[in-house]
Amino acid sequence: MSADGFSPSPPPGARADWTIDQGWDRYSQAEHEVWITLYERQTAMLPGRACDAFLRGLDALDLHRSGIPDFARINDELQRLTGWSVVAVPGLVPDDVFFDHLAHRRFPAGQFIRKPDELDYLQEPDIFHDVFGHVPMLTDPVFADYMQAYGQGGQRALDLGHLAHLARLYWYTVEFGLMQTPQGLRIYGAGIVSSRSESLFALDDPSPNRIGFDLERVMRTPYRIDDFQQAYFVIDSIQTLQDVTLRDFGSLYDRLAVASDIGIAQILPGDTVFTCGTQAYALGGGRL
Ligand code: PHE
Ligand code: FE
Repeated sequence: MSADGFSPSPPPGARADWTIDQGWDRYSQAEHEVWITLYERQTAMLPGRACDAFLRGLDALDLHRSGIPDFARINDELQRLTGWSVVAVPGLVPDDVFFDHLAHRRFPAGQFIRKPDELDYLQEPDIFHDVFGHVPMLTDPVFADYMQAYGQGGQRALDLGHLAHLARLYWYTVEFGLMQTPQGLRIYGAGIVSSRSESLFALDDPSPNRIGFDLERVMRTPYRIDDFQQAYFVIDSIQTLQDVTLRDFGSLYDRLAVASDIGIAQILPGDTVFTCGTQAYALGGGRL
């Protein structure tokens, strides 16, 4: 739902909850090839980079078999593991629709796949980002609960006028989260694991800040949708993330209503700093 409370209706052919049939039989061989290319690129580089929960989920779901996965098949396993399912949608859906799906343990995934000439960067999440990036983490029982709680919290944030703050939590965890492990920093964010270039940048590049996760701090930090992040936030474990977000956000939202935003590349005295980034990439103009 947009700020003025107007919620657009679903496009022609979509159901009231914006879902569509995946239409797995209709993918062309060329589209399956795009999936296979991306899948092989990512799985070759992710051991030692992605967190164990992600790699375990990837194994459990066997997302490779015949190119683009058939949601019906993924859902058998996902249902059995954590009670989640993947549903197909035409593209981005309104916030209230998105939250309602999450609150009911349904992950809305784009039905389409990117074109062979846009393997590295695309504006709207496609099936590779949504399924390869997001679904493996949904096999983890604690993360599965976190995502459902986020959906419930999203409906509440909409009502309370704090969607922008809650969206930053999603961005810096579900999409671009890093995790501290005994073996070193690992990726769990879907926006990173589904991108070859950001899987390198997020862990290895000296440019971005890497800062210990702090809920209020994260909610005060803007993010970039057009390029690599200038800051990544590091959790200790999925359990810690779950613990700090379990509490009622009411008083936090009250404080945030009068708090100013933190500069996207700023480091604060109270931060736990993993990397004080050079910001060389962003200062050099980034993707441009
Ligand atoms: N605890 C949050 C609230 O009271 C809900 C929430 C849970 C939000 C988990 C995000 C993640 O609004
Ligand atoms: Fe995503």
